[in-house]
Amino acid sequence: MDSTIGSRVGFVALLVLLFSCSTFTSTEAYDRLDPNGNITLKWDIMSWTADGYVAIVTMYNFQQYRHIQKPGWTLGWTWAKKEIIWNMIGSQTTYQGDCSKFKAEIPHCCKKDPTVVDLLPGTPYNQQVGNCCKGGVLSSWAQDPSNAVSSFQVIVGSAGTTNKTVTLPRNFTLRAPGPGYTCGPAKIVKPTQFITSDKRRVTQALMTWNIICTYSQRLQKRLRV
Ligand SMILES: *[C@@H]1O[C@H](CO)[C@@H](O)[C@H](O)[C@H]1NC(C)=O
Ligand SMILES: *[C@@H]1O[C@H](CO)[C@@H](O)[C@H](O)[C@H]1NC(C)=O
Ligand SMILES: *[C@@H]1O[C@H](CO)[C@@H](O)[C@H](O)[C@H]1NC(C)=O
Repeated sequence: MDSTIGSRVGFVALLVLLFSCSTFTSTEAYDRLDPNGNITLKWDIMSWTADGYVAIVTMYNFQQYRHIQKPGWTLGWTWAKKEIIWNMIGSQTTYQGDCSKFKAEIPHCCKKDPTVVDLLPGTPYNQQVGNCCKGGVLSSWAQDPSNAVSSFQVIVGSAGTTNKTVTLPRNFTLRAPGPGYTCGPAKIVKPTQFITSDKRRVTQALMTWNIICTYSQRLQKRLRV
């Protein structure tokens, strides 16, 4: 009898402990060595298409010390509606998913929650964009900012075709390469400006949204157990 009550009390205490840990993690999701460090993802819409848009997605490793080592980053998200990926350049989804309702042209990926990885060095030039194809390996910002950036192009279909009708992807996840990162929601920001290489002209994205992912040592430990 006593031991049953004892174990129940113990069980409840354990639940309370687990609950407080997980609450603590979500509010304290940061790395003590680099409290302002983050990985920022930027989606720049470069053009609208008949059924969606073309975006350049750029990942900046703004962390001071934490590199992204082999086997590199893995990025995931959930589409808000019925979006599909017609094509990607400079990266690929790990699974195509069920594209059986498409007849003529078959999309690159029909999954509701695509998972994207970088291509490997040595990818043919016609499948590359700037800053792609590093096998997902990135330096930290303090060490080498020029190698702390990764980009790919994605052509999205079955999507909104104006900045009023487009819906932002949700629930971003990042493994870089292990667990420990928490990503916030996509937020619309000022459109990115691009300066041509001769510095004589500035163009800008049609629309830009950012996602900020931060690293937590505590979260990383908890998920590794
Ligand atoms: C992410 O890092 C960049 C570069 O250090 C910084 O400008 C930005 O404020 C950071 N964002 C957050 C939400 O910490
Ligand atoms: C996103 O995650 C939240 C909680 O983490 C969940 O409630 C929601 O259903 C998810 N949304 C999608 C579109 O998966
Ligand atoms: C959407 O586009 C209109 C012009 O077509 C522009 O005035 C507006 O600022 C844009 N909104 C966003 C959120 O980019």
